[in-house]
Amino acid sequence: MNKNIVILISGRGSNMEAIVRSAIPGAHIAAVIANRPDAAGLDFANRHGIATAVVDHKAYANRETFDAALAEAIDTHAPHLVVLAGFMRVLTARFVAHYTGRLINIHPSLLPAFPGLHTHARALESGVKLHGASVHFVTADLDCGPIIIQAAVPVRDDDDEQSLAARVLAQEHRIYPQTVRWFVDDRVVLVDGRARVTNGQSGAEGWTVPLTEADSP
Ligand code: GAR
Repeated sequence: MNKNIVILISGRGSNMEAIVRSAIPGAHIAAVIANRPDAAGLDFANRHGIATAVVDHKAYANRETFDAALAEAIDTHAPHLVVLAGFMRVLTARFVAHYTGRLINIHPSLLPAFPGLHTHARALESGVKLHGASVHFVTADLDCGPIIIQAAVPVRDDDDEQSLAARVLAQEHRIYPQTVRWFVDDRVVLVDGRARVTNGQSGAEGWTVPLTEADSP
């Protein structure tokens, strides 16, 4: 049976695009939902025959009512997995609890470094030599939650925010579809609050994930 995936976006939607283009066997991209009517990624989804919806946060008085409307739109599609792909809203604890174990996010830093905004500028300012992206389960705390996969890129001496962002984004487009693939194959498990990727056989574990840019295809 195919697994229903609902992807939430706020803007460009390039991570959503990467997931859709990956055509993951067993994954049904049931819907793309945006919190902004002008989210550019909606066009791509429409052109690819994917159901789209907008739940405009500006139409709601507070986070609770927005999140309730969002959950209603999502649950129409009976999702096995809800994927935040550049979805720039802080979610309520109640919303997060409703999707425990099936809500993931991608963040453009090697968490727990640089949660929040402007991660590439902050990485440059801090002088770190490695930067990257993380996919994690969503918890009530912003950009927290068990990490499923990370990809690292070197920070070069001549990098600026744009060049670093582009290098990280290329890795995001690699690790997010990979994560969705693992979910579809039931290979992601939570053990003692930490995410593990199994090799797909009952009881087996210890899968090692290629983590660096050098390991990319
Ligand atoms: C991505 O870089 C994603 O990691 C980031 O927003 C961008 C969205 O790009 N998300 C966050 O900062 C979440 N804290 P996209 O719309 O092209 O996928």
